[in-house]
Amino acid sequence: MAGLLDGKVAIVTGAGHGIGRGHALELARHGASVVVNDLGTSVHGEGRGRDADEVVDIITSRGGKAAADYGDVSSEADVEAMVKTALDDFGQLDIVVNNAGIVRDKVIWNMGVDDFDLVMAVHVRGTWLLSRAAARHWRQVAKASAEPSVYGRLINTTSGAGLSGNFGQSNYAAAKAAIVGMTLTISLELASIGVTANVIGPGGRTRISSTMPGAEAPKDFDPTDDSEFDPLDPTLSAPVVAWLASPEADHVSGQVIKAFSESIQLMGGWRAEATVNNGGQRWDATKLGALFATDVFKTRAPGLRLGS
Ligand SMILES: NC(=O)c1ccc[n+]([C@@H]2O[C@H](COP(=O)([O-])OP(=O)(O)OC[C@H]3O[C@@H](n4cnc5c(N)ncnc54)[C@H](O)[C@@H]3O)[C@@H](O)[C@H]2O)c1
Repeated sequence: MAGLLDGKVAIVTGAGHGIGRGHALELARHGASVVVNDLGTSVHGEGRGRDADEVVDIITSRGGKAAADYGDVSSEADVEAMVKTALDDFGQLDIVVNNAGIVRDKVIWNMGVDDFDLVMAVHVRGTWLLSRAAARHWRQVAKASAEPSVYGRLINTTSGAGLSGNFGQSNYAAAKAAIVGMTLTISLELASIGVTANVIGPGGRTRISSTMPGAEAPKDFDPTDDSEFDPLDPTLSAPVVAWLASPEADHVSGQVIKAFSESIQLMGGWRAEATVNNGGQRWDATKLGALFATDVFKTRAPGLRLGS
């Protein structure tokens, strides 16, 4: 049976565990060759290891193609090397899934600058570095080609914290919101060469979610195992990522799609909930209280509008 991603080459970052592991196994199941990146670090970003190896072994034992990469997504040199691995080992680069992540949760008054900087470095700088490297590569391919567009799929990762905020995560929420703005911008910048850029909001029981009070211990899941449905299986977003990475999704770009448990949700962006107009005059701060109550928050009935 032809695979949805036959002949395609993907990089998945942070693919040694949890959600990224699921993406890598699912992309490989559909025929993609996968560079399995993972720094092999703790959930708080300490240490490094060869956690990518097990995922590579699983893919190759199933007849797929994969290469391990132990680089740090926040290092420019490591990210360049990751792209080189895709090109040297598999001859091309079609799909990039920026998924690597860590957490360093604390309420803002207890959070150190190092906790802020490391979370921003892994999520924002890391996502930006690999997005940039892929964009440069796809533009080069486009320039050298007679075709008007090239094959390129960029899928970056947000979270509920970035979309709505979460207690104790001012660093992580800022990073995950930044990834949304970054990806929407890249989707505009790459549209003319046919490359799509979207955001996935995954979820599930992983090392990251197990840092929440009362959460269950993480467990490795396999997206190819259909024997039982676990609503906290972190690989449940992997089929959506595989589809976004596929030729079928060539019309989908600049979207934020949450996919966890049994639901897929297309997220709506910020929009004006209420608009008041000053009729070409400067606002008067002393009159804004009444205006906000009646016409913005609508917490007070307007009653008679004197002077109108
Ligand atoms: N678990 C959830 O409920 C949830 C919800 C929303 C979003 N997310 C996001 O999903 C992504 C994956 O998280 P997860 O829950 O699977 O956690 P996880 O800890 O199981 O996996 C994250 C992986 O990223 C790797 N990593 C960390 N820093 C790295 C770096 N600098 N370079 C390369 N690899 C690095 C880790 O070694 C780890 O294998 C993250 O971006 C996270 O923010 C998770």
